[in-house]
Amino acid sequence: MEGKCVIVTGAGRGIGLEIARTLATQGYDLLLTDVDADGVKAAAAGLEGPGRFEGVGGDVRDFDAVHDLVAKAAEDFGNIYGVVNNAGVTKDTLLVRMSPEDWKFVLDVNLTGTFNFTRAVGPIMMRQREGRMVNIASVIGLSGNAGQANYAASKAGIIALTKSVAKELGGRNVTANAVAPGFIATDMTAELPDKVKAAMLSQIPLKKLGGPGDVAGVVKFLLSPDAAYITGQTLVVDGGMIV
Ligand code: NAI
Repeated sequence: MEGKCVIVTGAGRGIGLEIARTLATQGYDLLLTDVDADGVKAAAAGLEGPGRFEGVGGDVRDFDAVHDLVAKAAEDFGNIYGVVNNAGVTKDTLLVRMSPEDWKFVLDVNLTGTFNFTRAVGPIMMRQREGRMVNIASVIGLSGNAGQANYAASKAGIIALTKSVAKELGGRNVTANAVAPGFIATDMTAELPDKVKAAMLSQIPLKKLGGPGDVAGVVKFLLSPDAAYITGQTLVVDGGMIV
C-alpha cells in the first residue's frame, strides 16, 4: 500500500495508536492527529515502516482546522486514500444527572468530529475516484447502555452517518464502513469500576477482553483490496458480547 496516505484521528494512544502501528507495517504513509499534540508527535516518531509518518496536534471538533489539516495533507502526501475516525470520549452518567454540557461534549467529539473529517476528505476522495473511510463506532451504539445515553447516541449516529456516506459516495469508488468494538482493554476502559468490568466480562462468550490489535486488524482489512466490495457495513469486534 506504499504511496497511499491514511489519516488516523485520536492516534496518540490506545486503539488509534495500535491502528497506526498496524497500518505502518502495511506500507501506508500516515498522518496522525490527536488533541494531545505531544503524544501524537511521539506516536508518529515511534512508528516502524517504509512510509512517511507525521503527527499533528488538533481538535476534531474544529471544522476549519480539520479542513486545513486535510488540505495540507493532500498537498504534502499527494493523496488521501483513507481516513480512520477513531478519536472518541466518554462522559458517563445516568440520564437524570446528565448535563447539557456532558451531552454536547460527547456528541461534538465523537459524531461531529467524524462528520468534520468525512466532510473534509469526501471531495478529495471523490476527485481521486478512490477512498476508504473507516469509522470507529461501538457496540453501545447498537445496544444502548445505562449511563451512556450520550455515548450511545453518538456511536449510533456514526453508524447512520457511515451508511449515508456509503450511499452518497459509492458511485465514486469511495467506501465507508464502521467498526463496532466491544470491551477493549485501553486507558478508556481502565477507568471503569471492577464490578462493571466483571459484569461485562461475564457477557462475553470468548471470556476475555479484546485488545487494541483486535480492532486494528479489522481496520487494516477494511482498508485493504480484499474489502473493495464492502461498504455501509458495521463490523462488530466484541468477542460475541452482543450476539
Ligand atoms: P483512548 O481514550 O485511549 O484514546 C482516545 C484518543 O482520542 C486519545 O488519544 C485522545 O487524546 C483523543 N481525543 C480525545 N478527544 C479528542 C479531540 N477532541 N480531538 C482529537 N483527539 C481527541 O480511547 P480508546 O479506548 O483507544 O478508544 C478509541 C476509539 O474506540 C474511541 O472512539 C472509542 O469510543 C472507541 N471504542 C473503544 C472501546 C474500548 O473498549 N476501549 C469500545 C468501543 C469503542
